[in-house]
Amino acid sequence: MKILITAGPTREYIDPVRFITNRSSGKMGYAVAQAALERGCEVVLVTGPVALTPPEGVRVIRVESAAQMAEAVKREAATCDAVVMAAAVADYRPVKILEHKLKKTPGDMTLHLERTEDILASLGEMKKPGQVLVGFAAETDDLLENAKHKLERKNLDWIAANRVCDGFGADTNKVILLGREGRIVELPLESKAVVAKMILETIFGRQPE
Ligand code: PMT
Repeated sequence: MKILITAGPTREYIDPVRFITNRSSGKMGYAVAQAALERGCEVVLVTGPVALTPPEGVRVIRVESAAQMAEAVKREAATCDAVVMAAAVADYRPVKILEHKLKKTPGDMTLHLERTEDILASLGEMKKPGQVLVGFAAETDDLLENAKHKLERKNLDWIAANRVCDGFGADTNKVILLGREGRIVELPLESKAVVAKMILETIFGRQPE
């Protein structure tokens, strides 16, 4: 089985030295990549900028912006049996990236932002028969309701719902998996390594001992 995994944040540049990003460490996505390797999968990891060493044996594609991640993911997904998007992709980017460092002027300033591509929604539209699409939903409130909405809107098979306070940057995570057919599987608070293994076991079945 060939599996594509995304991890980490994206960076949306304002000028050559400033960018908009988020607190994703990449740990969840890298743990899923490690767990997939241990199941014998061929693993492609599309990663935003993080301070982690990728597991040995995965093919790594490094990106910075949401646009670069979209390009790499859409290209690679075409040959993958499953895609797990643990990356925290920016929803907005500056309309213009300034060529020169922005100078300070008196008074306030307004930054104009535009929507980035919703990569998972694009994958949901171009999904191959039999391909399994898995998203994560990072929520501060209405966890299950928001996650279910994303599962349906993006045409996913599974979504791993986690609270921002449980998942972002931490070594542990607490995830509730929602399946397309209505299955709800609540996983315990565990290390991201264990959570990643349990996510793959729930979706693809247990590996024979
Ligand atoms: O990196 P860590 O510190 O280990 O933290 C892990 C995590 C909290 C980042 C991870 O578990 C997680 O929840 N990742 C998804 C974060 C997120 O962006 O959630 P969302 O609810 O905004 O997006 C829903 C899904 O759509 C995600 O699978 C996301 O990758 C995808 N998406 C979002 C925006 C966009 N423009 N394109 C996308 O494909």
